[in-house]
Amino acid sequence: MLHILFLFPFLFSSSHASVQDFCVASLTMPDTPAGFPCKSPKLVTVDDFVFSGLGMAGNTTNIIKAAVTPAFVGQFPGLNGLGFSAARLDLAPAGVVPMHTHPGASELLFVVRGKILAGFISSANDVYVKSLKRGDIMVFPQGLLHFQVNAGGSTAIAVVSFSSANPGLQILDFALFANNLPSPLVEKTTFLDDAQVKKLKAVLGGTG
Ligand SMILES: *[C@@H]1O[C@H](CO)[C@@H](O)[C@H](O)[C@H]1NC(C)=O
Repeated sequence: MLHILFLFPFLFSSSHASVQDFCVASLTMPDTPAGFPCKSPKLVTVDDFVFSGLGMAGNTTNIIKAAVTPAFVGQFPGLNGLGFSAARLDLAPAGVVPMHTHPGASELLFVVRGKILAGFISSANDVYVKSLKRGDIMVFPQGLLHFQVNAGGSTAIAVVSFSSANPGLQILDFALFANNLPSPLVEKTTFLDDAQVKKLKAVLGGTG
């Protein structure tokens, strides 16, 4: 019996994997709620399942002194349909990943180097915040606002994973102040005064 079980895969083997094994993204077509369409298995190679982009530090010379290097399905087509993805987070001293959400995924953060103050806010507006050290992991439930701040004097690095191949990212301040939503409407809906809104729009590139 055992012999038959071992032989079974060979009886049905072909030179190429079937589409049931995986669905490597064909990035020539647009993404859909069900993911990208599959690249033909005949064209799939091992390189579709390997991503080397996280080995290099991201460029933290920017307003937030931080860089997120994504390994989402758009960069790493082998993730398509598998329900997870990853990213690298570099935080220079005083760096911050501003308050943001991933509408499509929960996040798991693993501190590789340095100290990171991280937290999220529940829909009941309770705050869960913790100073993390190397080796700690913290989870951020799907859709909730959260942030990460460098809490040490040197560069901090984390590897994050997401429960979606395409978790999405919306940064709260950018949503409010980095577009052309008219200032009076921003003021009305946030209770901030005109000077504060104009200041943040100037810093973040918003107009109106
Ligand atoms: C990092 O980004 C800054 C600002 O965009 C740029 O001036 C600089 O050349 C970049 N550094 C590297 C190493 O790419």
